[in-house]
Amino acid sequence: MSAKIIDGKQIAADIREELKAEVASLKEKGIVPGLGVILVGDDPASQSYVSAKEKACENIGIYSDDNRLPADTTEEELLALVNRMNDDPKINGILVQLPLPKHINESAVLLAVNPDKDVDGFHPMSVGKMMIGEETFLPCTPHGVVQMLIRSGVETSGAHVVVVGRSNIVGKPVANMLLQKKEGANATVTLCHTRTKDLGYHTRQADIIIAASGWPNTVTADMVKESAVVIDVGVNRVEDASRERGYRLVGDVDFDAVKEKASMITPVPGGVGPMTITMLLYNTVVSAKRANDID
Ligand code: GUN
Repeated sequence: MSAKIIDGKQIAADIREELKAEVASLKEKGIVPGLGVILVGDDPASQSYVSAKEKACENIGIYSDDNRLPADTTEEELLALVNRMNDDPKINGILVQLPLPKHINESAVLLAVNPDKDVDGFHPMSVGKMMIGEETFLPCTPHGVVQMLIRSGVETSGAHVVVVGRSNIVGKPVANMLLQKKEGANATVTLCHTRTKDLGYHTRQADIIIAASGWPNTVTADMVKESAVVIDVGVNRVEDASRERGYRLVGDVDFDAVKEKASMITPVPGGVGPMTITMLLYNTVVSAKRANDID
């Protein structure tokens, strides 16, 4: 039987409607949540992510302070802008789009963001709090994955989740979030990566697979247990001469074959992607409420 498709666009739209209402009620109190966005350089994928973030802010009524800087921006100039945003009361969240050009020390920039405005959840303080289960800003993509599971009625408590990929942005945080002693978590988690021996052995044990390797077809049908839930975080461009732009987007999962085996699966595009931006908006609204002592 073919899997139920988890519609990330719909779940994201539902959450954005909730946020829109919250933003409207904050505005009645004279509060406008603000997001500072910084993009350095002209990487086309980053440009399109940042444009989508700005558009999403506008759509729900969040003020965005958009800064597109040239690729030769110095680390000092970037740090000065981050510090200006740290001090700007109109800005509740700061987003520095990654990756940064090679001559800029990414860790130094993430460390410079005021943890109270760290809506990406990348500051070591946020990462540490997440790890010990304290309230903090959760990184947007893994938070989006967890929200998708919750809102799709997937039981994570006691489930065996196998995460494929150990990036700081997705693999490590999603594994961490799902093992917390919390609602929507409480899973047994296995974290696999490029040095894992016999990846399929691990993924076949999974009730829930989270694919975040960054490579098409990392998870094929023979690697999936019957009725498993499969979340595909990958966004890969593959050449496709039949498309006007010359490529199409695929995830890390062999979708057509795996959907015949899984009970639920996320598509690419239209799965995890729309959730990432939505959780950024969510964190920005939470930050604005915290800054004004509203819970
Ligand atoms: N690059 C890829 N994913 C992300 C993200 O979630 N936030 C930022 N800032 N950069 C990214």
